[in-house]
Amino acid sequence: MSKLLSPVMLGSTTFKNRIVISPMCQYSAIDGFANDWHLVHLGARAVGGAGLIMQEATAVSPEGRISYGDLGLWKDEQIAKLKTIVDFLHLQGAKVGIQLAHAGRKASCEKPWEGGHQIAPDSENGWKTIGPSAIPYKENDRAPIVLDQKDINRIIQNFVDTAQRALQIGYDVLEIHAAHGYLLHQFLSPLSNERTDEYGGSFENRIRLTLEIVEAVQKVWGDKTLFVRISATDWVDGAWSIDDSVSLSKILKQKGVHLIDTSSGGNVLVPIPAKPNYQVPFAAQIKEEAQIPTGTVGLINTPKQAEEILENEQADLIFIARESLRNPNFPLYAATILEDQIDWPSQYQRAIPTHGEWK
Ligand SMILES: Cc1cc2nc3c(=O)[nH]c(=O)nc-3n(C[C@H](O)[C@H](O)[C@H](O)COP(=O)(O)O)c2cc1C
Repeated sequence: MSKLLSPVMLGSTTFKNRIVISPMCQYSAIDGFANDWHLVHLGARAVGGAGLIMQEATAVSPEGRISYGDLGLWKDEQIAKLKTIVDFLHLQGAKVGIQLAHAGRKASCEKPWEGGHQIAPDSENGWKTIGPSAIPYKENDRAPIVLDQKDINRIIQNFVDTAQRALQIGYDVLEIHAAHGYLLHQFLSPLSNERTDEYGGSFENRIRLTLEIVEAVQKVWGDKTLFVRISATDWVDGAWSIDDSVSLSKILKQKGVHLIDTSSGGNVLVPIPAKPNYQVPFAAQIKEEAQIPTGTVGLINTPKQAEEILENEQADLIFIARESLRNPNFPLYAATILEDQIDWPSQYQRAIPTHGEWK
């Protein structure tokens, strides 16, 4: 049996295989509400056999959205449609995760296919952005409003309230988004955090908000399965580094986090040497040195590539993003390529390859 298609338990959840559909914003919500696009998009990938479907970055408050098309779960009215979706994914045998997010200074943007530029706060679909320090993300972006302690307390409460709704909906996994230059990463990195209070300066101070959110969320989420997505490096010398990530992961492990979903970059515009498996060494180092399960992501496009990472014990879960857009049935495909067993949906059984298809 391949490792990729064998079950694994993390926290309180057993996944039927180790393929995760990585969170992918669809920019298709209105006022944060999910709709049939999300049902079909996520549903197709559950039908395709993934062990875990991680729902896209879901905002804990309206101003925490990257764009006006982001999903949100900041009010009770947003629960019903998400519950319909989660129930459907469960019927396909998938576990379901929700990624809780706040975009901080990278909020208030156009949808990528409309250019992705930041929208002025006084225009339609724009709002004021917030962040640890008054440093814009990039040229032509505006400097965020600096958060004070009251604002920070409010944001922590937003995460808690959203986690409470996620619990009510029935998600199996909650993932705190602390990667890709969004609010928590903005606090972690000295490139975006120049605060002089207890949230800035030292490593201990810069990780404080992430830890406070993890602890606060655990008060409602209990010991259910909890992941944190981090950017393992800023790809800038002297900034947030893989060593910082290992140190943070050790602390998160002590706090009861079950997996570090290991990505990279996104906080400043610098070239990233992306190629197949380019982020795998980060997941491997965190797994080895912090002794915590890791997920790896980034240009993992073939079943053999994914299987090799698991065989080499470099990570515990394989997150697939763009390849799963090209092929929503990637897990069914992987089972064929790796000559392994997987349950096909009854409705699709006449398509199970018997004549060398997919080989
Ligand atoms: C359309 C799209 C939307 C994305 N949205 C998110 C998101 O909501 N949260 C997140 O952490 N990463 C997001 N990502 C990053 C992916 O989860 C993944 O880390 C990245 O695409 C690299 O994996 P890949 O090479 O398999 O695509 C997104 C990527 C794509 C292509």
